[in-house]
Amino acid sequence: MEGVPIRNARRGDIPSLLLLWTAMMRETAARDPRLALHPRAAEVMAAHLAAWIQDPQRLVVVAEEGGRLVVGFAIGALVPGDGWREPRRMGQITDAYVVAPRRRQGIARRLVGRLLDLLYEKGVDSVRVAVAAQSPEAHAFWASMGWTDLECVLDQAAPPA
Ligand SMILES: CC(C)(COP(=O)(O)OP(=O)(O)OC[C@H]1O[C@@H](n2cnc3c(N)ncnc32)[C@H](O)[C@@H]1OP(=O)(O)O)[C@@H](O)C(=O)NCCC(=O)NCCS
Repeated sequence: MEGVPIRNARRGDIPSLLLLWTAMMRETAARDPRLALHPRAAEVMAAHLAAWIQDPQRLVVVAEEGGRLVVGFAIGALVPGDGWREPRRMGQITDAYVVAPRRRQGIARRLVGRLLDLLYEKGVDSVRVAVAAQSPEAHAFWASMGWTDLECVLDQAAPPA
């Protein structure tokens, strides 16, 4: 089966990307309120998306159903290593999302596959992704693609003033 086409995002995709990004962040925050958005988040993200779509250091890909409906997206970036450890040229995946009714059809696998192809073409040695601790389906997804745990981010809120 061919599957939903994957293509690079265009400026005209920004409204759809914002809707999907907001849904993704709300889904994540519903699992862990520490990851909640602030009220101006969509405005900030709209500006980022407009810049990233034109930035050769960023990769934004979408899955578009029927030539008009964006049902998933993924975002990657080329990032410098920390300067003292290998790898020196790193890729990062910052977002991957598929709308709930289209899940388990291999769309995220193909979105991420496209990002990896683009990042490897750009010469990265390694690609990393941060995954919310309370998202078991996301962990299952990355594990199914062969990704393995590297570091774990711990959090401690400041005491009330
Ligand atoms: C994680 C997510 C992107 C997966 O999208 P998807 O299109 O459903 O994933 P795929 O269909 O490509 O799944 C590929 C494989 O990953 C694994 N997988 C995906 N979702 C899974 C789930 N809910 N439970 C267990 N395994 C899962 C399976 O092995 C699956 O292969 P299979 O369907 O043949 O068993 C999607 O669930 C999502 O958008 N979640 C909310 C946002 C999120 O957590 N994003 C990750 C940010 S790091």
